[in-house]
Amino acid sequence: MDNTSAVFPQHIHWEDKGTSRIPFMAYTEADQHRRELERLFYRNHWCYVGLEAEIPKIGDFKRTVVGERSVIMVRDAEDSISVLENVCAHRGMQFCRERHGNRKAEGFTCPYHQWNYTLTGDLQGVPFRRGVKQDGKVNGGYGGRLTNPLTFEPSQL
Ligand code: FES
Repeated sequence: MDNTSAVFPQHIHWEDKGTSRIPFMAYTEADQHRRELERLFYRNHWCYVGLEAEIPKIGDFKRTVVGERSVIMVRDAEDSISVLENVCAHRGMQFCRERHGNRKAEGFTCPYHQWNYTLTGDLQGVPFRRGVKQDGKVNGGYGGRLTNPLTFEPSQL
């Protein structure tokens, strides 16, 4: 006798009309999880990320999540609060690893290739973008594709 569908059901089946007995599959089914993330976190509505009092000084930040996305709530140089997605424009690395701190002096620097971002999330520095001169020739760099970090678009790479 094959009871595979009873052990691994293909659809969420509610035993009762009430909500007191939630089918186990509601907690484990990948498509259901994706739909809930979309509805609860990624649509056009507000999501709570923190309290203004948690970042009282310019440069203070707090890293948290919205759904499965890592975000940084930060007080910028204009004393405004921004929320940045914690994803480097270069190769998608999470550029902030600390839970909280202050970055007034240096902004955020990605640990992978050291691209640097302002407190409002703008790219402001890319090391060796013109390459490194060695033995009379230039090695690496972006070959003129990344002329100005402030106007960078990922499609330039
Ligand atoms: S992935 Fe961030 S600098 Fe390369």
